[in-house]
Amino acid sequence: MDRISKIFAATSIALSIFAASFFAKATDMLSIKSDLKRGQAVAAQVCVSCHAIDAKSLSEVYPSLAGQHADYLYQQLKDFQLQPGAQEPQRNNKIMEAMVAILSDQDMRDVVDYYASQKEQRGLAHHDNPNSSILGEKIFRGGISQKGVPACVACHGPDGGGMPSQYPRLRGQNSAYTQAQLIAFRDETRVNNVAMQVIASRLSDDEIMALADYIADLR
Ligand code: HEC
Ligand code: HEC
Repeated sequence: MDRISKIFAATSIALSIFAASFFAKATDMLSIKSDLKRGQAVAAQVCVSCHAIDAKSLSEVYPSLAGQHADYLYQQLKDFQLQPGAQEPQRNNKIMEAMVAILSDQDMRDVVDYYASQKEQRGLAHHDNPNSSILGEKIFRGGISQKGVPACVACHGPDGGGMPSQYPRLRGQNSAYTQAQLIAFRDETRVNNVAMQVIASRLSDDEIMALADYIADLR
């Protein structure tokens, strides 16, 4: 374990003990089952420092979770976990791997339902290049036929809203995060979707940047 992982592991244990007693009390007090309330408690205790409580992430490197499809978010949490027999998790991210290690399945369900119920936000974008969004829109809507890149709208929908449980919403996502994911699919550090790995392998850095900027501005 490197130093960062150790710090996270230690923080995680402390958080989980604290969170466990907090949840027990909260449930006692309410004595009713309210999953969204419980989900909000998990968010407030564990996720808040990066994803915020209203899911408006605090930095553009952290994805905005607000309004994202709950089933998709749940699957991603599973994909950050190292599964028995596997060398690496399907999504390689030390921070999120440490986070999911302390969550029960019920915690995951509740917290994703909570975040999915939050209001979507407009994403944070770079706009280093003024023409970037024009190129991004072209690829998003029409793909790049010479390179065999399909239009993103084919799966993620004309407004980038995706489709629950199949295709994630891209609209309004922070551009640095989208950029990092397309690079992760290309570099095979995110291997949870073959179609996305093939698509990303055909995109240049400039095309990825352009798509990420366009997507952040989509509403
Ligand atoms: C220390 C910062 C940090 C904390 C705390 C944190 N996350 Fe994350 N989260 C990240 C980063 C960074 C990523 C992007 C990972 C990547 O590049 O694959 C991420 C990605 C995710 C994703 C994937 C989103 C997508 O669109 O695919 C989900 C879901 C998620 N986090 C949920 C949570 C939940 C739920 C909690 C609390 C239990 C949490 N995170 C706590 C930093 C954090
Ligand atoms: C054949 C269907 C399909 C097409 C076409 C497609 N995608 Fe995807 N995309 C998916 C699926 C399915 C996922 C979810 C993968 C998973 O479960 O992690 C995804 C995930 C993503 C993600 C990660 C979202 C997140 O929150 O982490 C990004 C970014 C993305 N796609 C961008 C694009 C872009 C840009 C294009 C067009 C160049 C595109 N996709 C075209 C199916 C598609």
